[in-house]
Amino acid sequence: MAHDTGTDAASRVPRRYPFSRVRLEPDPQYAELRRSEPVCPVQLPYGPPAWLVTDYDLTKVVLGDPRFSRAAAVGRDNPRESAVDLSQVAESIVSMDPPEHTRIRGLVGKAFTPRRVAELQPRATEIANGLLDDMIAAGPPADLVGSFSFALPAIIICELLGIPEGDRHAFRGWADATLSTTTVTPVQEQEAFLNLAGYLAGLFAERRERPGHDLLTGLVQARDHDDRLSESELLVLGMALLVAGYETTARQITNMTYTLLTHPAQLQLLIEEPALLPGAVEEMLRFNVFGSAINARIATADVELGHVLIRAGEPVLCARSSANRDEKVFTRADELDFRRNPNPHVAFGYGPHFCLGANLARMELQVALGTILSRLPAVRIAVPEDSLTWHDTTILRGLAALPITW
Ligand code: HEM
Repeated sequence: MAHDTGTDAASRVPRRYPFSRVRLEPDPQYAELRRSEPVCPVQLPYGPPAWLVTDYDLTKVVLGDPRFSRAAAVGRDNPRESAVDLSQVAESIVSMDPPEHTRIRGLVGKAFTPRRVAELQPRATEIANGLLDDMIAAGPPADLVGSFSFALPAIIICELLGIPEGDRHAFRGWADATLSTTTVTPVQEQEAFLNLAGYLAGLFAERRERPGHDLLTGLVQARDHDDRLSESELLVLGMALLVAGYETTARQITNMTYTLLTHPAQLQLLIEEPALLPGAVEEMLRFNVFGSAINARIATADVELGHVLIRAGEPVLCARSSANRDEKVFTRADELDFRRNPNPHVAFGYGPHFCLGANLARMELQVALGTILSRLPAVRIAVPEDSLTWHDTTILRGLAALPITW
């Protein structure tokens, strides 16, 4: 095959990106690109042209190779979907490279341990049951998004961070407005962001005075004992845990419930063999297209990728949901198969920036779906499927509401 060297992303006609967003399905261009042009130029609504990687192995190369940098995205114009460029927050964990990144991950790792997540599981089940008790008492139909999907991860993140019960209502209001891609104006969003940052800064100060057993205390102590997390790093980290961990999980709860209810044979299999639940969650993470490619990596040297020469300074985006449908790695990649094993999907990323909250997300998703299925064994969508409203402009895909009956 001819080497496609000597070109750059700007000198070829780029495809417009993101591609179409229909329900949770991949745009057909992904399959075509994996076959014909696994590294191809694209143009996003903002920023310069970029290279889009759609192949599984090449995705792992970009996400794992230190020559593709996140820190180099700070202070330059980056390919992105919205006007705001979160990559500019230099102290954010996602905008760092090793060794700074390794240092922060190590500190958070001390506070955010698998044990802490495991300890939360019985409590998460209790919260899920409580929310379903209320929903069942009010009677069908109910909107899963409003009654369950957002409330569960919101309560869990509040308990994990140690937000006092009396503050949770305000906290969630600010978090929803900060993360909202629909309902508030940019001014309201900015106001909510500042309120949230101010509130978290106050809580950090309080935990320093009166340590608790929560994640915020863990982070404060990781800083105070070794003086290794700066004040602003603490704050940005607190916000990052919230931003990265709340809406993602909330939307996935609804998306996965929808997937179950629209794949009756796999749902039946899961009801007959509840032990398949962890595998079912992994398979839905792989199968459902959740977001488009974000967080461009910037090449710090000329690198040959596939048969394309990426020049130093050029941005590269990885379409993880395309990698997850790569037929070279996943047999019958377009089939949902709860028995799939192994399932090395990259829905939580790969390499140094692999999702910090993957274990928490997995636990929450298993608890959410397991509780729904055991409490509402006859659950089904309460309206014709084509009347469901999808968020088709937001970075994370999902349903605006999921009316269910049981
Ligand atoms: C189903 C839910 C979730 C999905 C699909 C998801 C997905 C991802 C992905 C793909 C990345 C890598 C981004 C990149 O390399 O550019 C990431 C990073 C991250 N996630 Fe998650 N995530 C989820 C839930 C969570 C939760 C519950 C938390 C924490 C409470 C969390 C915290 C983070 C953080 C802090 C990072 C940045 C890590 C770093 O840069 O080192 N995520 N997530």
